[in-house]
Amino acid sequence: MADAPVAEPDRDDRDLREVVATRHIIVCTGSGGVGKTTTAATLALAAARAGRRTIVVTIDPARRLAQSMGLEQLDNTPRPVAGVEGLDAMMLDMKRTFDEVIDRHADDPARAQRIKSNRFYQQLSDTLAGTQEYMAMEKLFDLHSTGHYDCIVVDTPPTRNALDFLDAPRRLTDFLDGRFLKMFLSTGVSAGRAVGRVAAFGTSLFMKAAGRITGAGVLDDLGEFFQSFEGMYEGFKHRAQAVYRLLSSGDTAFVVVATADPGALREARYFVQRLAKDGMPMAGLVVNRVAEPISDDLQALVAATEDERGAWAEGDDQQRAVAGLLALARRQADVRARQQRAIRNGLHGLDVGVRLEVPLMASDVHDLDGLRAIAAHLVAA
Ligand SMILES: Nc1ncnc2c1ncn2[C@@H]1O[C@H](COP(=O)(O)OP(=O)(O)OP(=O)(O)O)[C@@H](O)[C@H]1O
Ligand SMILES: [Mg+2]
Repeated sequence: MADAPVAEPDRDDRDLREVVATRHIIVCTGSGGVGKTTTAATLALAAARAGRRTIVVTIDPARRLAQSMGLEQLDNTPRPVAGVEGLDAMMLDMKRTFDEVIDRHADDPARAQRIKSNRFYQQLSDTLAGTQEYMAMEKLFDLHSTGHYDCIVVDTPPTRNALDFLDAPRRLTDFLDGRFLKMFLSTGVSAGRAVGRVAAFGTSLFMKAAGRITGAGVLDDLGEFFQSFEGMYEGFKHRAQAVYRLLSSGDTAFVVVATADPGALREARYFVQRLAKDGMPMAGLVVNRVAEPISDDLQALVAATEDERGAWAEGDDQQRAVAGLLALARRQADVRARQQRAIRNGLHGLDVGVRLEVPLMASDVHDLDGLRAIAAHLVAA
């Protein structure tokens, strides 16, 4: 028996049109692989179509999508997207952004140079938890400060822990404000023991960075690293606070992306709650890659032919083809019923603003036409 049709979750006939037409910053976030980059690119396209000067900051887009947006390399340079008036795209280069941050906060070029050539710094930029998230926010603030864009859409890196995104600025400033160095130096004796002490405070990523630097001079490098930062913490802290204020302002909109998978929905739920707790402006939740309903006629046919299908599957070519198609339709209806239940349970009682579903497309979304097809579901055509 096919599952009895389940009640569809409460429908929301609003979409994100208002968001793309009015908000200055749109942050797309969610767990790994759910469609953050696709959603960010789609919303940016829609904002540009609404006549706004728009940039989408992407992180690690699939190659074909990047190419179709005119992005060939990670270089922090906004590039116009061919064929879309008013839309720029950029691929975020974490390392370069981190360097820019150092340049900005260091009071003289010699100090900036000293930090950037420090071996510990070179490891830190890709191992410290939340660094990617922090850099995405840094870049966002930069683009905001230029005043060039009406709308800035930011993609976020795949994080296992959605908290990283909001905690990154604080974690980075805590890390850099030297308290780890004090612990480190107070332990003295051998590098091994000292690093062990630091690790005991739960900074396992710190360990990873430290552990990759081997040989003589480890301690010197570390000591020099923290000394170089002396006096720069305030700058970092202020900047992090400014970013936080910008994110929590009414000009910003968070769009959480999930799929109908229970795990992805759990993460989305957790993230929506965290955004609310932090007073961040939640604009909407997109459930991506959802199975579309089959038509009522087809549903009726599937139900009515339940008994015959077994025999048809053994029949002539035509009967087998019909049986195959009906089996497919039934499977899709089952998947849809299961997904809709997962969505209902997963989002029960949660205030997410606008809630939207995007169907699973027949193929990957890797060009502007693909984005336009998605746009039809996020911002009605
Ligand atoms: N509605 C859809 N239908 C079919 N394919 C889709 C849909 N949305 C996204 N995809 C495809 O799913 C893949 C993952 O999408 P995307 O890169 O946007 O996810 P992501 O959340 O940014 O992933 P990551 O966490 O790795 O950055 C891509 O190949 C994309 O083309
Ligand atoms: Mg992505």
